[in-house]
Amino acid sequence: MGTIKLPKKSIKFFKTNQNKIFKSGKLAEGPWNSKLSEKIKSITNSKNAIPVNSNGSGLTALLLIYKEYYGRTDIMIQSNTMYGVKVITKTAGYNLVDYIDCRLETLMPNFEDLKKAVDHYNNKTEKLVIMLSDIGGIINPDIKKISEFCKEKNIILIEDSAHSFGSTLNNKFSGTFGNAGVYSYYSTKAIFAGEGGIVVTNDNNLAELIKDFIAYDRFKQKMEIGCNFRLAELQALMIYSVVKEYREIIKNKSKIANKYSKICDKLKIKYISQKTDIITGNYYKFILISPNKKISELLPKVKTITSKVYDYSLGNSTQIPSQHLCLPIWYNLEKSISNKVVKELLLSK
Ligand SMILES: Cc1ncc(COP(=O)(O)O)c(C=O)c1O
Repeated sequence: MGTIKLPKKSIKFFKTNQNKIFKSGKLAEGPWNSKLSEKIKSITNSKNAIPVNSNGSGLTALLLIYKEYYGRTDIMIQSNTMYGVKVITKTAGYNLVDYIDCRLETLMPNFEDLKKAVDHYNNKTEKLVIMLSDIGGIINPDIKKISEFCKEKNIILIEDSAHSFGSTLNNKFSGTFGNAGVYSYYSTKAIFAGEGGIVVTNDNNLAELIKDFIAYDRFKQKMEIGCNFRLAELQALMIYSVVKEYREIIKNKSKIANKYSKICDKLKIKYISQKTDIITGNYYKFILISPNKKISELLPKVKTITSKVYDYSLGNSTQIPSQHLCLPIWYNLEKSISNKVVKELLLSK
């Protein structure tokens, strides 16, 4: 097992405060859930932030609530996303009516792809939820246009922001463009703490329903659906400890990305940029793309890689798995690894 790559300040903060949790005896539903919620609200400018035990449980809670209280029965997701996102739709009892095509330039759908899918949809849009996943650390560049379109058509838009905590588009944070968004702090993510998720929404009614749902509505006893999707206090502290250093984590990763970008620019290798005039990503992945042939043919010597996003397609975008790869990029990545990557890139061209 390797060392966990977290900022020293995060580990110290966790260790200092964990004893307070033991002394207080409040291992669940205590102050760290509230502190974490306040922290996320202040970072993302979201009106509500509800900690849950995973991104998946947050998405499932949202879908079940939209079915029970808002009459939604149908859902579309994008072709290029984690297999579990598809599983969630069935788990929540939805009809998965379409997979929206994705583009190699972003690994996500653009506005036209989404509009095409909605134009083909032959039911009332008041029945529809669209759940879009940010891929690789950046927000879907068309999300504002998509969000306005969904509003106009009365479609519920959920942002699966599992990859994109801390990322912005025109200074607006991921998760805040649609009706609700959900972050993930699972071990492999850019800003990670082991497990956990947070639902963000500006809709106060929805937020109240989520808060009650994740505790079986056992206090008010008005709802007929619910479960325990709560986040444990120790885990809330763990996420808080990491989240408070999120800028440092992104800054550290951006230096590694700059090293890769420089060499890619020189060799004319295409990659998905995480820093433009409007985009600031969290550098979850550093993604190289090959528009015309398999990436393994374009860059045969590049072997120091991490897992793709993704190596399968749920719908039509079948070229994506073979035409991209991801370079290693994590907080405090060893220089020997990034040097090896640079060497392999140079050998490939
Ligand atoms: C796109 C996407 N959505 C959702 C999830 C689920 O996140 P979690 O493991 O926190 O439930 C993941 C995590 O792997 C993911 O990659």
